[in-house]
Amino acid sequence: MPSALSAYVSDPTPWHGALRPARSWLHSDAPSRSLNGSWRFRLSPTAAVAAEFSAEDFDDRGWDSIPVPAHWVLEGDGAHGRPAYTNIQFPFPIDPPHVPDENPTGDYRRHFDVPAEWSDAERVVLRFDGVESLFRVWVNGVEIGTASGSRLAHEFDVTAAVRPGDNVVAVRVHQWSAASYLEDQDQWWLPGIFRDVTLLARPAGGIEDVWLRTGYDGGRGRVETEVTAGAAAFPVTLRIPELGVERVWETAADVAPVDVPEVAPWSAEQPRLYDVTVSSAAESIALRIGFRTVEIRGDRFLVNGRRVVFHGMNRHEAHPERGRVFDEAHARADLARMKRFNVNAIRTSHYPPHPRLLDLADELGFWVVLECDLETHGFDKVGWAGNPTDDPAWRAACLDRIERTVERDKNHPGVVMWSLGNEAGTGANLAAMSAWVHARDPERPVHYEGDHTGDYTDVYSRMYSTVPETEQIGTDGSTAPLLGCTPAQGARQRTRPFLLCEYAHAMGNGPGALDQYEELVHRHPRLHGGFVWEWRDHGILATAPDGTPYHAYGGDFGEVVHDGNFVMDGMVLSDDVPTPGLYEFKAVVQPVRFAFDGDQLDITNLRHSADTSDLRFCWRVEFDGVPVEAGELDTPPLAAGESGRVPLPAIAVAADAETWLTVEAVLATDTAWAPAGHQVATAQLDRSVRRPVPPVRPRSGWRPGEGTLTLGIAEFTGGSLTRLAGRAVTGPRLELFRAPTDNDEGTADRLEGSDASAEGISSAELWRRDGLDRLVARRIGVEHATDALRTVDRVSAADSALSVTVESVWSIEDGELELRVEIEPARGWPTVWPRIGVHFGLPDGAAPVDGADWFGTGPLESYPDSLRAARTSRFSATVNDLSVDYARPQETGHRSRFRRLTLTSGGTGALRIDALPDTRGRRPGFTLARHTPQQLARAAHPFELPESTTSHLFVDAAQHGLGSRACGPDVWPEFALRPEARTIRLRITAGD
Ligand code: GAL
Repeated sequence: MPSALSAYVSDPTPWHGALRPARSWLHSDAPSRSLNGSWRFRLSPTAAVAAEFSAEDFDDRGWDSIPVPAHWVLEGDGAHGRPAYTNIQFPFPIDPPHVPDENPTGDYRRHFDVPAEWSDAERVVLRFDGVESLFRVWVNGVEIGTASGSRLAHEFDVTAAVRPGDNVVAVRVHQWSAASYLEDQDQWWLPGIFRDVTLLARPAGGIEDVWLRTGYDGGRGRVETEVTAGAAAFPVTLRIPELGVERVWETAADVAPVDVPEVAPWSAEQPRLYDVTVSSAAESIALRIGFRTVEIRGDRFLVNGRRVVFHGMNRHEAHPERGRVFDEAHARADLARMKRFNVNAIRTSHYPPHPRLLDLADELGFWVVLECDLETHGFDKVGWAGNPTDDPAWRAACLDRIERTVERDKNHPGVVMWSLGNEAGTGANLAAMSAWVHARDPERPVHYEGDHTGDYTDVYSRMYSTVPETEQIGTDGSTAPLLGCTPAQGARQRTRPFLLCEYAHAMGNGPGALDQYEELVHRHPRLHGGFVWEWRDHGILATAPDGTPYHAYGGDFGEVVHDGNFVMDGMVLSDDVPTPGLYEFKAVVQPVRFAFDGDQLDITNLRHSADTSDLRFCWRVEFDGVPVEAGELDTPPLAAGESGRVPLPAIAVAADAETWLTVEAVLATDTAWAPAGHQVATAQLDRSVRRPVPPVRPRSGWRPGEGTLTLGIAEFTGGSLTRLAGRAVTGPRLELFRAPTDNDEGTADRLEGSDASAEGISSAELWRRDGLDRLVARRIGVEHATDALRTVDRVSAADSALSVTVESVWSIEDGELELRVEIEPARGWPTVWPRIGVHFGLPDGAAPVDGADWFGTGPLESYPDSLRAARTSRFSATVNDLSVDYARPQETGHRSRFRRLTLTSGGTGALRIDALPDTRGRRPGFTLARHTPQQLARAAHPFELPESTTSHLFVDAAQHGLGSRACGPDVWPEFALRPEARTIRLRITAGD
């Protein structure tokens, strides 16, 4: 027999009491009081504690205090339990709708004051904007009601329970409830009252709700108004002062559309908002509207008649100290950062964000796909048996969620699509949710990725489809099968707009291939872009045993089941630092495209609707990375979609240096998200004259030799390098290993059409199996010739017959020291290699190497399938700044195609290394780091890396691409590194 208590905790529809209907989150001048602040708090390990604390006279002096809003597991230094991270797994037995008796339960209490004037109010309402996961409310000892739906708003009528002066509110929050089965998103489980609590005086004659639906057509605007109010609220007046609109409606039935002859449209690029008030005698509501019409025409998704391409991010609410608690300044800075990185869209994965976020998105300009708080992914494990989205017992819960989602945020011009949720299988309740949205808001399309066959949604959406598959989706007449579809269903899906609700899994170092996806958008107009998974890492600030702060992930809090660092898959690190992947994204999706054609430059405006009058076009010339000339291009504004051709300046070309012309589109004036001068788009043209590469000089007269030798600045013992220009140096030693990236460790999609990666086995696993991380060498020979030394090594791993022969030739050429390394794999290596390079150790000494100055690509790391943000110039950085602090240490820091590298010590040149191209014109990349790949691979967090003062220099003839196999396709064959013979040729001199 279930007790009353367990029945309530495991009730899929636990709304009882004085819950008010869902409505918009409005800015009203009616009186309100924030109940945020310090509350009394007690945590119990189970839900089965007596609710005596709800009594008015309960003595809570022995309790803790806790801030509201907050998650209790992030308050009190571990005294209130700890966060837990799972992706798909339920952290409790799959026993729906029940949850364990061990159910952390937080009791909250506080006093609040009701002003005497509020006695005029028709109603007093208590609003909770977010409580995870189930809660029950009392006011002055009177039970008010219960509700669940963690990221949704709930309002209770407390009129009968409150009185002027002092009152007490008590709230009981259960971490687990039936609702937890609907909230299985890939994120931290963070219980508590984590959004605002507000007491509202609802005036007699007030306006309960208002919906301003706008339209835009060729300069004309329309506002359709829906007012929810009693008869006493009328007349109601709508005012748009800037447009001279004032409309008075005597009754609800009078409310008619308002046509405005001349308005500026709203778009993510030009987020033009107009202030509006909707007022009765008793209450005035302030809104900001934007004029825009959303429509689907054929397979196009249009706003204001023009196709939208989403260059989007999946955005979770994540803050390293506050979790999902909204911090407006932080959120605004984050959105401004998105704008600076050419992000134009947000999917609010996987729940409605704090309502203010949508005000900010309207204001700064983002296309928003607003997602409902619904995910039941854990049912996948049981073949979706009992999935709530297909069980009548959960239908009301599903409908309640979508209703609260749409009602709360319906006024935002930025919201251009509703999403029913994420990874919740498929079922009748989802179809019912969709039908509800269609009836309520016929304009905005319904999205849900799990509806593979398109039975109840309006757009075709997928996650992580590969490049060829995505291309097939966009190709007219293609009959390639689509996931889960019969040919007929597939044909229907191809008649709809397509978007990738998730792609380019940005976990750790990566993703690769962003440019390949972007290319498709320009070739197949059915493809409307997508949303990178995901915007930021969700690390939680924690302290290592030695006191070092770090960003914790799954398992760091002793969880019973967890999914490790799968929660660290953002384009921005937990501490707000943009990753190189985000710079790559910015470069790939830049809204202005440049194409060089002889002395002409073609400029294309790829924007949705804005012209280029907000941009200035600049150019500059560099000789070997040193700026020599700069100017501005005279470019008339280009309308959206238009191309123009301008002459390039006549520039000088250096005879003995590389000449690079860089063009840039920069903001002409300050915006809300970046200052004037901010670079929006750029491109480079190599104008260098070809210079001959000195051929390898054949040498003869080799004779076996041992012992000590000096060649120019190099000193050797037993054939091995010991010093360069007087400083201790070891190497070159063959290095084929890189500390596996999260994508290298992934087992998602294997390498397309290739035998180089194996089903279900990660590349990293194969590398470890082949012993790439533990190579040993056997010297086969040391020989001398005049001004030259040659060593041959055979390199292989324990218990492996696979080997690589490495021939190193040191010689004096043109008065300089040259090193040529020939790397030759024996036959039989079965897989891809992470890198083909050599390692030099630069131990600490009198003037330790602690930085680099280089002419090559930069400023950030780059890899073969992530090269678009890399430009050719001259850069410098300290050794520490050359590596990215990924949450789990992994390969980082590779700078592709360097020409000249100066290793520096305290800013002064110590050794200069010039890289000569190989016979196919390929140049090596370099990595300068404090740790070896083997050290990095052993550490699970940055604080676990050993203290190091040694610098390690890696010169790589080649690196494997990045891909996004942590949750998506492996490295594209063109960028996969197969074992092959490579040559590295370096000239080394002392100093600068
Ligand atoms: C998707 C899911 C996201 C996230 C991602 C992997 O399947 O929708 O929430 O889990 O995979 O990081």
